[in-house]
Amino acid sequence: MALHTRAVFLGAPGAGKGTQAMRLARETGVVHISTGDMLRGHVARGTPLGTEARDYMDKGQLVPDRLIIAMVEDRIGEPDAASAWILDGFPRTLPQAEALDTSLTGSAQSLTHVVYFHVPEEVLTGRLTGRRVCGKCGAIWHVQNHPTSKAGVCDTCGGALTQRSDDRPEAVGKRLAVYASQTKPLLDYYRQRNLLTEIDANRSPETVYETLIGLMQ
Ligand code: AP5
Repeated sequence: MALHTRAVFLGAPGAGKGTQAMRLARETGVVHISTGDMLRGHVARGTPLGTEARDYMDKGQLVPDRLIIAMVEDRIGEPDAASAWILDGFPRTLPQAEALDTSLTGSAQSLTHVVYFHVPEEVLTGRLTGRRVCGKCGAIWHVQNHPTSKAGVCDTCGGALTQRSDDRPEAVGKRLAVYASQTKPLLDYYRQRNLLTEIDANRSPETVYETLIGLMQ
């Protein structure tokens, strides 16, 4: 099934945006653009952007808008993103949302969906501290909610699982606070533009996926 969508996935850290976007990309071919993954790639490759971003990320703070906006504009300008994509983790501030609007208007495009993944705050900390990520294929697991059959080894590719440095408890609290103060205001921004759809993301990944497919077809 091909999706012709230009969507933003909004929600707190740990709401399940990445889990759902990865599956949508795998099953529909839509391009998944995760600013967190892009930044972690820059950090791993030791690029100047990665060197500048690393400190902010490890502390649970947002990377400055000027760096992020340029990175996303470049990415959505690439040929594979000409017609359909999901933005996961962007925009996260009002200036980022405004920059996205300007950029889309400039290329005669518009957003088709803004999906808000709602999960009660008390659930989020456990999702984040228990998350494990495959260092080889990027698959997302959880020590309790979504465990691998052999501890520490990815079921998909056999790669070793790691814990993200910003999933340590000291950074998680900061990330949730930054989300509440800087990103949550975007819900109103998109609600006022009649673009926001809220989904209950505190259900099984399968049920959340079925809801998503239903609304994005
Ligand atoms: P980023 O990587 O974007 O992190 P995030 O937004 O904090 O989101 P997460 O990846 O933590 O959560 P998710 O919603 O994708 O949840 P997931 O599916 O993994 O950003 C990291 C950092 O980069 C930022 O802090 C910032 O420094 C920087 N950055 C990135 N974008 C930026 C921007 N635009 N501007 C400035 N700075 C930026 O699921 C979490 C866990 O829950 C997993 O273990 C999963 O298995 C489990 N799970 C998922 N769904 C369910 C379910 N339905 N039920 C039970 N468990 C579930």
